[in-house]
Amino acid sequence: MNARSFVLTGMAAALLLSGTTLAASLDVVEFRRPMPVTGSIAAGKEKAQVCNNCHGANGKAPVAMFPSVAGLPEQYLYWKLVEFKNSLRSDSIMTPLVANNTIEDLRDIAVFYASLPLVAPSPLTPEPVDAAILDRGRSLYLHGDPAQGVPPCQGCHGVEGKGPTNAQPFQMAWPALYGQQGEYVAWRLTNFQSGYAIDTTMDKIMQGVARGLEPDDIAALAAYVERLDGR
Ligand code: HEC
Ligand code: HEC
Repeated sequence: MNARSFVLTGMAAALLLSGTTLAASLDVVEFRRPMPVTGSIAAGKEKAQVCNNCHGANGKAPVAMFPSVAGLPEQYLYWKLVEFKNSLRSDSIMTPLVANNTIEDLRDIAVFYASLPLVAPSPLTPEPVDAAILDRGRSLYLHGDPAQGVPPCQGCHGVEGKGPTNAQPFQMAWPALYGQQGEYVAWRLTNFQSGYAIDTTMDKIMQGVARGLEPDDIAALAAYVERLDGR
């Protein structure tokens, strides 16, 4: 069994557990109709103690390159954790961290972090950021750049970055960006571009979005998202 089929077998097993179906024609997890994720918030809080070192007891990461997880949708969190558990990406710090967690643990932890309120942005990268850079980030976020084929981020992440407005069922797992860390945002956008960790149909969406971004655009978006105020 090669590495890829091992990953897919793992995912198929996880999918059976969740009751979701795997579209045979895709090499990524079909995620357009995410199933509800249920678990115990109280149990998740206990199980997440080791995670708090890097993601913060309130879900707000203390370091710019670690993601904040407070208030992200439980479907998003759960599936990220399943992907880490099933992946063979030895370079991700997360893969060994969830190796011993059961699927039930991951559900509990996901509903726990999802139950925490989003934490307001508090930029960790050094001030000041050039006004022109912030303006570029704001403009890309709110309006996109049609010439470069970049859609407005707010269309899917919300004007304030708190997730899609009136989320439709197929958007239930789309993450908020409000309060997210700048360095982490830049790292993720670079990964979407390079095709690293494209595991689901949701990742495919972002792969397309990120395609037209220049390195300066990524820096501008990271700076803006870290200060997201919806204005
Ligand atoms: C040593 C620091 C560290 C610890 C401990 C840690 N994480 Fe992470 N976590 C990270 C980093 C760094 C990333 C981004 C890396 C990546 O995506 O490969 C991440 C990514 C994540 C993500 C994806 C976030 C997003 O916005 O997509 C989730 C969810 C997550 N971790 C949950 C957990 C849980 C649950 C635990 C405990 C079982 C945990 N983490 C423990 C550092 C840590
Ligand atoms: C068409 C909808 C759509 C648009 C437009 C869009 N996104 Fe996304 N974005 C998503 C989805 C869906 C995901 C979840 C991907 C995954 O599962 O990892 C995501 C994930 C992300 C993440 C990772 C979040 C995390 O917690 O790890 C970042 C960062 C991000 N988007 C930034 C942006 C930026 C910046 C823009 C504008 C240039 C943008 N997005 C435009 C749908 C969209």
